[in-house]
Amino acid sequence: MMPKEHLNMDPISFHNALAKKWSIKYKKSGLRKRYKFFSAHLKPFIKKNSFWFDAGCGTGILSRKINQYGAQVVAVDGSKEMIRMALKETEKNKRIKYINSDLVNFDFESIKNFDGIICSSVIEYLDNPETILMNFYNQLNKNGHLIFSVPNESSLVRNIQIALRNLFKCFKFSIFNYLQISKNSYTFRELNDFLATFGFTDYKIYKFDAIIPDTLHKVFQPTLYVVFAKK
Ligand SMILES: C[S@@+](CC[C@H](N)C(=O)[O-])C[C@H]1O[C@@H](n2cnc3c(N)ncnc32)[C@H](O)[C@@H]1O
Repeated sequence: MMPKEHLNMDPISFHNALAKKWSIKYKKSGLRKRYKFFSAHLKPFIKKNSFWFDAGCGTGILSRKINQYGAQVVAVDGSKEMIRMALKETEKNKRIKYINSDLVNFDFESIKNFDGIICSSVIEYLDNPETILMNFYNQLNKNGHLIFSVPNESSLVRNIQIALRNLFKCFKFSIFNYLQISKNSYTFRELNDFLATFGFTDYKIYKFDAIIPDTLHKVFQPTLYVVFAKK
């Protein structure tokens, strides 16, 4: 359960408050499994000296991984605190440029022609995911890769969390507060339609859950869809 000051916050303020401990979360629990998933799946897509954009980079965990695989990275986050931690946690001389900016106002025209864009667990917090995804699509080079994750509308864990959150509300407790700001989730079909709107035809949608083993995903719907799309 979170202290009261986390309530009624916008996504940026919410994540500002989490920044100091964000990278530590990656050393354990679900985020560790997610990091392993991304590390393994990203590798074949990243060419040496390619140019990548990490949209909503948090403390730069994935930016550093992409850079380690040989790419130059521009990493943007709306949270000042996340960027402060990212700078602190990144060795100097790495070819990663961190920028503190809201993705909504970001001047994509000043930095464009990306070979790849990654946007991990950010789309769900945006008021206008279509506009931002269209911007991503436009800034990608031909054959460039767009990799992003979104919550699965039918996720077992997410729906249990929603039910528990509603139950606890009756007793004036607040749990799973990220649900207050995580507004966009998709069914498999909606996600396919969503991708088609942007002209993506060559893509694969992976299912990911930190708790439920892959073998059970047909019975118990996983938390995330992770899209690997090629322009
Ligand atoms: C759940 S965290 C994910 C961080 C990172 N991508 C990762 O996978 O570790 C969501 C991040 O999106 C950022 N964010 C949310 N809305 C944003 C916006 N409109 N513009 C820029 N960053 C945003 C938050 O500040 C936060 O760092």
